[in-house]
Amino acid sequence: MWLGGFNMKKIEKRRQTLLLLLIIANIAFSGFFIVKANENRSDLLSGVLTVEGDRKGPEISPLLYGAFFEDINCAADGGLYAELVRNRSFEFLRSYTGWQRIYDRDKAEIVVENSKPINENNPHYIKLSTDCPGGELGLKTAGYGGIAVENNKGYRFSAYIRCEDDFDGFISVFIENEEGKSCGEVEITGLTGEWQKYSAIIKAEESAKEAVLAVMVQGVGTVYMDMISLFPLDTWKGRENGLRKDLVEMLAALEPTFIRFPGGCIVEGNLLVSAYRWKDTIGDPAERKTNPNLWIDFQSYGLGFYEYFLLCEDLGAEPVPILNAGLSCQVRGAQVVPMEELDEWVQDALDLIEYANGPVDSYWGAKRVAAGHPEPFNLKYLGIGNENWGPEYHERFAFFQEAIKEKYPEIKLITGAGVAYDGPDYRIAWDWAARIGADIFDEHMYCPPQWFFAHADRYDHYPRGVMEIFVGEYAAHGERRKNNLEAALSEAAFMTGLERNSDLVTMSAYAPLFNKVGASQWTPDLIWFDNTRVYGTPSYYVQQMFSVNKGDVILPFDFRKSPSAQGEDTMYFACSRDYENSDIIIKAANRSTEKQLVKIDLKSDNFTFSGEGQAIILTSERLSDENSFENPTKVAPVTEKLKTADKSFLYRFSPYSVTVLRIRY
Ligand code: AHR
Repeated sequence: MWLGGFNMKKIEKRRQTLLLLLIIANIAFSGFFIVKANENRSDLLSGVLTVEGDRKGPEISPLLYGAFFEDINCAADGGLYAELVRNRSFEFLRSYTGWQRIYDRDKAEIVVENSKPINENNPHYIKLSTDCPGGELGLKTAGYGGIAVENNKGYRFSAYIRCEDDFDGFISVFIENEEGKSCGEVEITGLTGEWQKYSAIIKAEESAKEAVLAVMVQGVGTVYMDMISLFPLDTWKGRENGLRKDLVEMLAALEPTFIRFPGGCIVEGNLLVSAYRWKDTIGDPAERKTNPNLWIDFQSYGLGFYEYFLLCEDLGAEPVPILNAGLSCQVRGAQVVPMEELDEWVQDALDLIEYANGPVDSYWGAKRVAAGHPEPFNLKYLGIGNENWGPEYHERFAFFQEAIKEKYPEIKLITGAGVAYDGPDYRIAWDWAARIGADIFDEHMYCPPQWFFAHADRYDHYPRGVMEIFVGEYAAHGERRKNNLEAALSEAAFMTGLERNSDLVTMSAYAPLFNKVGASQWTPDLIWFDNTRVYGTPSYYVQQMFSVNKGDVILPFDFRKSPSAQGEDTMYFACSRDYENSDIIIKAANRSTEKQLVKIDLKSDNFTFSGEGQAIILTSERLSDENSFENPTKVAPVTEKLKTADKSFLYRFSPYSVTVLRIRY
């Protein structure tokens, strides 16, 4: 029929053809065909990610991403702890470690003595004497690989000094630059026959990277010294006995929700005699014991439990101390505290809780007050044992558990899983922990990147309702244990699994945290530094991306690979919702050499999307790419605006990338 010049039959046919084309196009767009004709393979749709925007999954544990601190790789002494003098109290096995003695042997004497110490915890001190005027007599130290000072900045020198009646003179203290020129000095006068602490500020008149501190006796007679110390005034929060500001800032930028301290194997010690004992680490630094450090040298304990608690408070992180369970390190020989002597160790744990939380008039609470902190530290978590396992551990743990739960039922105890994260030993540990009603089970994994990729679903099918899991130490150890993109990528893949299961995995921490270049015993590590510089590794940025973009509840999702997408899975996801910012958050790791085009469907009847969104992307050209002092952000996240951030949109995940998408509703 003709109607006003139109052929209705033809129109109807065209309409049907158009409809058919539209249907085909729609199906193609839904991810089952090629998105656009004539484009290359990498523009094939890899899959469709459907996020259930309205279906709240479990809440994400507020403590999911924390930090693990241990004095390994000079992380504390020579690192975070801002003291610039090594072996300040002459308590190292070789008393002169770190010190150069300046004297003429024929005319003067320098020896370490212990007959009249400043206190019983600090038995050794140094004696300098001469009866020949005019000669050089003193000590020099380069601290931890050179003392770095900055022009115009102040440094607090302090020392305990006494002298014999025959002494006539004073002490001059210099900071000498690399050329031996003084770049700041003070004089200490008025010495007496009794130990006294002398303190003075040295203002640096120029910068030097590798200066030395010189403490020289001017005059004749005999002088004794101990606790020779030099601190920058510019510490974190300007505290005396403080921490290195730049390193704390790096840590703070991770926004850790807890800090586990003081380790690690260091808790256990090589031998029981060198196990970490928190009571030796509080109070006046001059009264703290020096303890062997199984990683290297000794621990000054200047960064002790009080400082750890303060640091946690500063960063808004829960303190998670780990105490020795009455066993020295089991991979290094395992000495055990006899059961009849265990009370002392259990009492240490009870006293720690009192120190942290107890009333101001309690014995240990009063020590907290004396340190300057009447308010409690609100300790909620306590680990008993590090990587301990087997009957000896189980027997001892039971004693701790009974005593602590009886007096402090509110404290959640962390139970070690040993060194195994799989296999029969792990199973035994898990069954035991489940049987005794453990609160939190501490699993450690140091494995190749391939393991982390392959086990990103480790917790997807774990039994619920038995105990919480603390992935207390983990890091990808690839070839030559590098902190490269591959390691970071695999950790990100694994972390999507931690987050998806954070009803079960309530806490996690990469380990170790710090590495001082040139003084390290363990790689890889999260943050690298020297005496003046610091940078984050790719793993650091992954931790940060996950931590600062955590979200409040897990959102269920489904990722359907396109039939056309070949090969093994290369994408890993976790989805969540952030109420405060009204964001849907998608975290993704793409381990493929190819970009991955994914259609993202945010299923929801309740949201109106604002069209705004952000993509935070960490990637680099090669899996072997690393950061360095010279190029500290070679592998670091960049933030881009999302071009389309709606209910449904296409997103191309870069090759070798970790991406956080924040879609605002
Ligand atoms: O993180 C380094 C060490 O690895 C820890 O001290 C120990 O717990 C683990 O074996």
